[in-house]
Amino acid sequence: MLIAGNWKMHGTQSFTKELISYLLENTKNTEHEIAVFPPYPYLLLIQELLHASSIQFGAQDVSAHDTGAYTGEVSASMLADVGCRYVLIGHSERRAYHQETNEIIAEKCQLAHQNKLVPILCVGETQFERDAGSTYDVISSQLASLLDSTFLEHAIIAYEPVWAIGTGKTATPDEAQAVHRFIREKIAKKNSSIADKIRILYGGSVKASNAAELFSMPDIDGGLIGGASLKKEEFVALCQMAKNVVMDI
Ligand code: PGA
Repeated sequence: MLIAGNWKMHGTQSFTKELISYLLENTKNTEHEIAVFPPYPYLLLIQELLHASSIQFGAQDVSAHDTGAYTGEVSASMLADVGCRYVLIGHSERRAYHQETNEIIAEKCQLAHQNKLVPILCVGETQFERDAGSTYDVISSQLASLLDSTFLEHAIIAYEPVWAIGTGKTATPDEAQAVHRFIREKIAKKNSSIADKIRILYGGSVKASNAAELFSMPDIDGGLIGGASLKKEEFVALCQMAKNVVMDI
């Protein structure tokens, strides 16, 4: 299980220190992996705070360019340089507000991999697409370049139905499981041993009260948590819950 906290554009230095020290104190015995995704300015502070810990961290986005005159951009090599292990790529908020296409997202994944970061490719349909019955087509096209890449086994996928992000409306465990199963089957057609191992996270209004059921589904390997990752007690509860789920199986 991987429990990943996407802070989005929230936080300050003092918030970062407080949240991380709470996580360090209260997640010592968790058997699964925890990762946090703060805004760029706090990555160096996080690196310092987490240097002796098993909690990992990453960035919420990365440039599609390697280096050069790209004002405001942050490259994969820079993220690697400050100790990131992961990077979120293709989050629906990037797709919607920054017009990121599947092609741009593929370039970002490639650069992340080249710089030894693990890309977490976010996929998910909008409410309109779900209502139109095109969920699986959308997911297939969002996954296509990763499935054809040479680094599929080094990636993570996060299924985040757009209609469930920040809305309080979560996919039911069965709805989420159906899409996770679909993703794993698509991967299995390429390579069944990668399909068995690859981690597929669920995201979209996950909180302590609904996580246990979601995490108990066979093809859900963890969560990408937005709002609830900013509340320290709630995030720790999620981490503990995931642990219990693992132990129960
Ligand atoms: P949410 O966000 O948990 O606040 O719905 C999840 C995400 O966007 O990664």
